[in-house]
Amino acid sequence: MSSIQAIGLTKKYGSFTALSNLNIKIEGAKCVGFLGPNGAGKTTTLKLFTDMIMPTNGQALINGINVHKEKKRALASVGALIETPQIYPSLTTREALSMVAEIKGVPHNALEKSVREVVDKVKMQVWLDKKVGKMSKGMQQRINIAAALLGDPDVVLLDEPTSGLDPRGMSEVRDIIKKLKKENRLIFMSSHILSEVSEMCDEVAMIDHGKLLAYGPIEDIVSRFADKHAGIVEISVIKSLQDSTLKRIRKIEGIRGLEKLDARRFNLRLSGGIETQQMVLARLVKLNVGLIGFKPSSSALEETYLNVFKETV
Ligand SMILES: Nc1ncnc2c1ncn2[C@@H]1O[C@H](COP(=O)(O)OP(=O)(O)OP(=O)(O)O)[C@@H](O)[C@H]1O
Ligand SMILES: [Mg+2]
Repeated sequence: MSSIQAIGLTKKYGSFTALSNLNIKIEGAKCVGFLGPNGAGKTTTLKLFTDMIMPTNGQALINGINVHKEKKRALASVGALIETPQIYPSLTTREALSMVAEIKGVPHNALEKSVREVVDKVKMQVWLDKKVGKMSKGMQQRINIAAALLGDPDVVLLDEPTSGLDPRGMSEVRDIIKKLKKENRLIFMSSHILSEVSEMCDEVAMIDHGKLLAYGPIEDIVSRFADKHAGIVEISVIKSLQDSTLKRIRKIEGIRGLEKLDARRFNLRLSGGIETQQMVLARLVKLNVGLIGFKPSSSALEETYLNVFKETV
């Protein structure tokens, strides 16, 4: 099973501690959002996991291998996109990716196939022989993601993968990440966009002033830190609901309010924590409303975020 683990991981810049005694183990094929205010230590952590910087103390392990002591072996199964690298603008997509593949040690006879595979994944086939310098930011970000996927890594580390992209670019990158998740990879990504994190991630890790404040499944973190009496879950149904059905949903014990997001998605405001969630979910299934999704809403994660970080600002 894929894993990333930090043991007492610490990074100091002079007397300033950017990361303080981080202990975390993330295991399995899942997407984990890495949250925290500006300057919290997210990029520092990701750089330590790829040996771009040296730890002052402690260890960063990928699949149990120390990335500083055995960099090559540890990073063989890692694809990373940290601080959007600038690709040389006069190279074409094919040239840029072939160069990265070579650096990553992809054998010569497999080079073309590997490049084609990752280009397919990010849907850049028609851009294969176009110069990178002429492309939009979103296109360049897709090439960066393609570069991270060369060598078929089972651990993918992404630092704000959608930052700076327009809504279409963001949505395209999100689709790519969702696909990666289905391919049984471990994805660890920092982001400031909470709606995106609650849409894509299974778990979150929260960090501030270099210290880990919380790590776990989104549902657990939300029920721990959000206002206990105002849990919000987002449900999606297979087809739009009739008014009579909505009425019946509103009457379910534990539901204090229902807000329509679009024809097939609703926010339910609950009167309690996870026990209420469980009860409401069971009732919804019984009502046979065509339920296909039930998860803490992005506003629940936002509330959680504000509660976790309010004291530390
Ligand atoms: N090379 C460096 N020298 C000195 N201080 C640094 C260096 N790199 C980072 N820092 C400091 O370490 C702290 C953590 O920075 P880091 O980039 O990890 O934050 P972050 O969580 O990624 O923030 P953001 O959300 O803004 O990207 C910040 O206070 C930053 O100023
Ligand atoms: Mg950062």
